[in-house]
Amino acid sequence: MTHSDSDVVLAVENLQTHLYTKRGLVRAVDGVSFDLRSGETLGIVGESGSGKSMTALSLVRLIPRPAARIVGGSVRLDGEEILEKSEAEMRAIRGEQIAMILQDPQSSLNPVFTVGDQIAETFQLQGKQPRGRMRERAIAALREVQVADPENRVSNFPHEMSGGMKQRVVGAIAVARRPRVLIADEPTTSLDVTIQAQYLRLLRSIQQQTGTSIIFITHDFGIVAKMCDRVAVMYAGRIVEYGPVHSIFATPSHPYTQALIASVPSPDTKVERLESIEGQPPVPWDLPKGCRFAPRCPFVMDRCRADYPPMFATQSAGDGDAEAEHAAACRLLEGES
Ligand SMILES: Nc1ncnc2c1ncn2[C@@H]1O[C@H](COP(=O)(O)OP(=O)(O)OP(=O)(O)O)[C@@H](O)[C@H]1O
Ligand SMILES: [Mg+2]
Repeated sequence: MTHSDSDVVLAVENLQTHLYTKRGLVRAVDGVSFDLRSGETLGIVGESGSGKSMTALSLVRLIPRPAARIVGGSVRLDGEEILEKSEAEMRAIRGEQIAMILQDPQSSLNPVFTVGDQIAETFQLQGKQPRGRMRERAIAALREVQVADPENRVSNFPHEMSGGMKQRVVGAIAVARRPRVLIADEPTTSLDVTIQAQYLRLLRSIQQQTGTSIIFITHDFGIVAKMCDRVAVMYAGRIVEYGPVHSIFATPSHPYTQALIASVPSPDTKVERLESIEGQPPVPWDLPKGCRFAPRCPFVMDRCRADYPPMFATQSAGDGDAEAEHAAACRLLEGES
């Protein structure tokens, strides 16, 4: 182990979130475990529908209701169980401890209030303050995320701003809270390449200013390489591989991760689906009994279909450094560790 438990900000254990749909029960998050450490950026990567957003929303208990329910597991923030907090306590946690930048930045801003008022609302959570002072602080927050002309922009309504600027405002709200944990859910897909690069720089500068730990959700392994210290790969509601980014790129051990990395797009292409992997993810209400990737896996063996594989330490693991924490849920690793 290269870290002590005191480094762990958020500890997620066997998290299970179910969705009750017309087609049947969907195990959107099915036994997810990971640690988020102080000051690190953890990537969660996987195809559309793999459960990334449901995992993120479960951490702050903002899953769609009544369709979804957290049915098991544990989420501890600085050792305190989130899943046992009251709704009022959760609101305080969401205001002060865990900030979330949603998949669609537009939807996180209220169209009928100025951006200044929306940033100021964040400061209200920290105690009532005079209006002039709030305006000053909102301007400072906009300046922090490098919005040009913040003295005038503070009075803008969201529709008066470009997509990239709105993204910055959402970032300003997140910075203003000085959260312990920032969850950024796929914020880049709707943005063009230049704005995307700016946005990633913004996230990094937020991290440098606040020392916050970031969970960064994406389906782009190229962005993971640029942004993250560690990564968890999700497939059909499960984490199939996790470890330090450099170790995962050097020796991807789950065939799904190998395919994901092989399909990293060049900077100017956008992929919604992984063309290099044959077949489709399983339908969520009819999952295979064993490994969920087995129907698409080029290396599938009989025992893969019998039951779900546990996590195995990878070949690169075991030399006492950070690589010791690289593991994959694949029977190809059985007997190697
Ligand atoms: N509001 C909802 N009602 C019913 N099913 C849902 C709802 N939201 C998500 N799901 C289902 O839950 C599963 C996980 O979805 P989730 O949104 O977490 O995927 P994701 O990994 O974030 O995908 P994407 O990359 O497209 O954002 C999917 O099967 C999805 O169809
Ligand atoms: Mg999502």
